[in-house]
Amino acid sequence: MSITDAVIPVAGLGTRLLPATRSQPKEMLPVLDRPVVQHVVEELVGAGISRVLFVTGRRKRAIEDHFDADPELGSGPLLDGVQILYTRQPEPRGLGDAIAHGRALGASDGVVVALGDAIVEGDVVKRLIAAFEAAQPAAVIAVEQVAAEQVNRYGIVAGPLEAITALVEKPDPESAPSNWAVAARYVFSPAVLEELARTPPGRGGEVQVADALGALIDRGERVIAVPLLAAERRHDIGTVESYVQTFLHFARQDPRFSDAH
Ligand code: UTP
Repeated sequence: MSITDAVIPVAGLGTRLLPATRSQPKEMLPVLDRPVVQHVVEELVGAGISRVLFVTGRRKRAIEDHFDADPELGSGPLLDGVQILYTRQPEPRGLGDAIAHGRALGASDGVVVALGDAIVEGDVVKRLIAAFEAAQPAAVIAVEQVAAEQVNRYGIVAGPLEAITALVEKPDPESAPSNWAVAARYVFSPAVLEELARTPPGRGGEVQVADALGALIDRGERVIAVPLLAAERRHDIGTVESYVQTFLHFARQDPRFSDAH
């Protein structure tokens, strides 16, 4: 059976995008004609996902409204062929804690985890699922190479990509183990979700994915990193600069707006 479940964490505060995020989720910012989160769900449906669990929080209701049927507009649910479910992270205790809420799906197989504030062009999720099914590791992580001076913005993997030895959150460039950065898409086995639920808050008082994966690796579990291909670009929208760049990238690619500068 292929993996058909996904978790999209969208409960973060989005403080780096204030004031745009005072009353609306950053994941609802539009990129061209649709919000970022719709790009993410469409990407997942294209990879064979048929059940999506959003982990939401305060000020995130607009996401639920977006995917609902709208009788006033005479329209049914926004997307066919995908069941959309919601659970809440009562307080933003970090990405790891948000993902642990994915246990609500009760999945017995792996789940795709896609950050709700990043669009990834291409088919990387399909390749992550194939790698997970072939090797049955604890986790598969999409990674991309970043400039050495930017490693302190990302989770960075250590060791050979076929079996990483650690994930280090936002290392200093001098001490970074590589320049392979985690790229907003993962496949996690149920064991990873259980480990996240047990993991105490770490760096910044937040539950860190790096700590949970580190504990599993130390117990002999395998974690595989899969590099993005050239056509599989990741676009974060978590800062004003990256949001503007993402919007312009998609505008330039679209024949309707290709003279946008
Ligand atoms: P970020 O690391 O960008 O954090 O989250 P953030 O809190 O949203 O943003 P800033 O730092 O305040 O600007 C990456 C993804 O993880 C989700 C976010 O919603 C985003 O989609 N997230 C983060 C949660 O669901 N819960 C959390 O506790 C933290």
